[in-house]
Amino acid sequence: MSRRRSFSDAAIDYYANIIMPFGQLVKAKIAEIQKLGLDIDMIAPDHGIIWRKHPEQAVKMYLDMANGKAEERAVIIYDTMWHGTEKMVLPIMNGIKDEGVDCRVFKLRATPMSVAIKEFWKARGCLVGTPTLNNIMYPSAAEFLTHLRGLRPKNRIAAAFGSYGWGGGAVKEAYENFTKMGLEIFEPGLQVLYKPSHDDKQKCYEFGREFARKLKQYHQKF
Ligand SMILES: Cc1cc2nc3c(=O)[nH]c(=O)nc-3n(C[C@H](O)[C@H](O)[C@H](O)COP(=O)(O)O)c2cc1C
Repeated sequence: MSRRRSFSDAAIDYYANIIMPFGQLVKAKIAEIQKLGLDIDMIAPDHGIIWRKHPEQAVKMYLDMANGKAEERAVIIYDTMWHGTEKMVLPIMNGIKDEGVDCRVFKLRATPMSVAIKEFWKARGCLVGTPTLNNIMYPSAAEFLTHLRGLRPKNRIAAAFGSYGWGGGAVKEAYENFTKMGLEIFEPGLQVLYKPSHDDKQKCYEFGREFARKLKQYHQKF
């Protein structure tokens, strides 16, 4: 990773995990500073990176992020107990990619929470995969959505999928979270009984394709 790229990744990480709820304040502060017409040599905040070179790039990145900039890409963030939900991931990702939309995948138990939040923020669309446990979401998926809700994300499209054994419930609960966050929602979510069958995998693929089509349409707005 080049030095400049690693700075930009660190800035996105910081913004996504700390500054996300304050986009309006960021825009107002940048407008106030720009009005002063200063020639900026360095940005030295009281936390975070000191921008000694190209401080104007940091200002542009912050403005873009405050305006909800994201890549035209999807991210699948999931967890699983016995691999049923996990077996849905590949066909969903293939469907997304076959629509020409890039897709990254993160398994929650193998991913630090701050990375999951950063990856969510970078992509225009997110699919949350969660099995049902005692009628509700798997705890790591619930933890992720709880973190996310506190950060008040905007301008992102979301969907949920997962494996269940009888009544289900996790996917419904994930959508309730998306609604509370005011995200754009792609419905209905997809639930599969235990391990996905051949037909279920076809449904997963179509779900991925349809999600990617909606993501592309939604991305046009920005
Ligand atoms: C402790 C426990 C509680 C469960 N509770 C529910 C439930 O309330 N409703 C349901 O539909 N399935 C329930 N299941 C079944 C799982 O959702 C099912 O096995 C699913 O395939 C797990 O997905 P995974 O393979 O991705 O972990 C439960 C499973 C376990 C182990």
